[in-house]
Amino acid sequence: MKELIVNQLSKITSISKSEIERLIEVPPNPELGDYAFPCFSLAKILKKNPVEIAKDISKKIVSDKFEKIEAKGPYLNFFVNRNFLALETLSKIKKEKNKYGSSKTGKGKKIVIEMSSPNIAKPFGIGHLRSTIIGNSIANISSSLGFKVIKINYLGDWGTPFGKIMVGYKRFGNYNKLRKDSIKHLYEIYVKVSKDKSMEEEGRQWFKKLEEGDKEAVHLWKQFRELSVKEFKKLYKILNINFDVYSGESEYKNKMSATIEELKEKNLLKESEGALVVNLEEYGLGVCLIKKSDGATLYATRDISAAIDRYKRYKFDKLIYEVGQEQKLHFKQFFKVLELMGYGWGKNCIHVDHGLYLDKDGKKFATRHGKTIFMEDIINETKELAKKEIQKREKLSAKELDSRALKIALAAIFYGDLKNHRSSDMIFDIDRFVAFEGNTGPYILYTYARAKSILRKAKNQPKKYTLSNIEDKEKSLILKLESFQAVVQQAYESLSPNIIANYSYTLAQLFNEFYHSLPVIGSDQESFRLDLVDATSQVLKNSLALLGIETIEKM
Ligand code: ARG
Repeated sequence: MKELIVNQLSKITSISKSEIERLIEVPPNPELGDYAFPCFSLAKILKKNPVEIAKDISKKIVSDKFEKIEAKGPYLNFFVNRNFLALETLSKIKKEKNKYGSSKTGKGKKIVIEMSSPNIAKPFGIGHLRSTIIGNSIANISSSLGFKVIKINYLGDWGTPFGKIMVGYKRFGNYNKLRKDSIKHLYEIYVKVSKDKSMEEEGRQWFKKLEEGDKEAVHLWKQFRELSVKEFKKLYKILNINFDVYSGESEYKNKMSATIEELKEKNLLKESEGALVVNLEEYGLGVCLIKKSDGATLYATRDISAAIDRYKRYKFDKLIYEVGQEQKLHFKQFFKVLELMGYGWGKNCIHVDHGLYLDKDGKKFATRHGKTIFMEDIINETKELAKKEIQKREKLSAKELDSRALKIALAAIFYGDLKNHRSSDMIFDIDRFVAFEGNTGPYILYTYARAKSILRKAKNQPKKYTLSNIEDKEKSLILKLESFQAVVQQAYESLSPNIIANYSYTLAQLFNEFYHSLPVIGSDQESFRLDLVDATSQVLKNSLALLGIETIEKM
């Protein structure tokens, strides 16, 4: 619909289509139309009063796609033709099904997205969960727009901590515990070693050995890595999230000397207290540490090497890093270094950040009663809550109960995260996330299942219908359905899945309002309304899919 207005206006005015598109508003009050165009910018160009301009244009546009086009002060208000809107929208959804909302704007372009990236031998953190959920949604949104997307999991599998863990493992490790509960065991060791300053030096030496390829060190490290990845994969399976590539910092251990050479040749390295740095003070970014005084290379050096390697491999149009806000400076620094190295593609590297999860009391949600929180425990807890909710309503077999509870739990967690703008800190409140009422994942799933149940109950075969008198509640719902594609595009442009989440919530609300005030089955509009129910369920499903949430047919 918006496109129709853009086309009409671009024929009569001298402003570009994209500018018109940007200017079109959705009025706060439906009495002012479904769309409005403010004439102020035309006033500047035409040197004429915007009220006059609005009047002039309203007379010039003739289109049966609009009920009326009204000049109101400096605004042009467009009222869409309800029948036209309904027919166009519903038939498009019926035809495109799962593809409704997708487009080809990204065709031929490649996006590499680095996401999740937990550290081996350490618990999968709550921040890694955010990165996984948000990164996955951005990947879904991008591929629905036709981009080729490559999802990389860049494991934290290199660095001085592994020296410490080795020392600790040699001292208090237990092979059976390691096999059985790898991450918990290694993490216990790490905590113990970190408290003991006397092991620091030894740890450094072990990491050095590892970097030099010492047999025992490499063997231990490989074991830690494999076992950790095995545990992470179990979690990803539960979350139903896949990666195209498992990479990690260790992949760049042999490429870093070349990077350091290149930095030297390009005259970017300075010595500072025995270490090598790139001085970024003139850009207000401090110094980027490249090599420590003991010769060990650093996080930033690996990131620079990884970015160069990824560009060689993928020739990406965009490289997105979904990583917590606390690493903002790090990304700014190494992006700047890439630019100074003369890599033009450096400006296509984007840090998509996220805020913290907070506990209900507003504190950082990383430990509970001083104990580290494990991801499996969180999912299981959420699942138990979901089970209770289901059991209040229905009796199911144990198997069905379990599978449904998991889907609801995941919807609760994913949606609970994605409904907020990613940069804001958010309160991780499982009880609220799982509620079947309010702005929650389960509420939207429930709305979807309700729509599906109406469709199942309908006995009559759908008939061909002619439209008359579309009600306001129906019109608002259809307008919302119609805007889906634009919403997906907007979510992509601002890399903000919350735009899709908020859309699905409003859509669910509009549907429930429609359903509560107008009869479907047995009404004289039955066929049309069933089509509307069907279309709504399809779009709810498509929007949830972009968030990584699977729907349930019955709930
Ligand atoms: N493993 C890191 C951590 O847990 C995140 C990695 C972020 N990605 C990067 N390219 N530096 O903090």
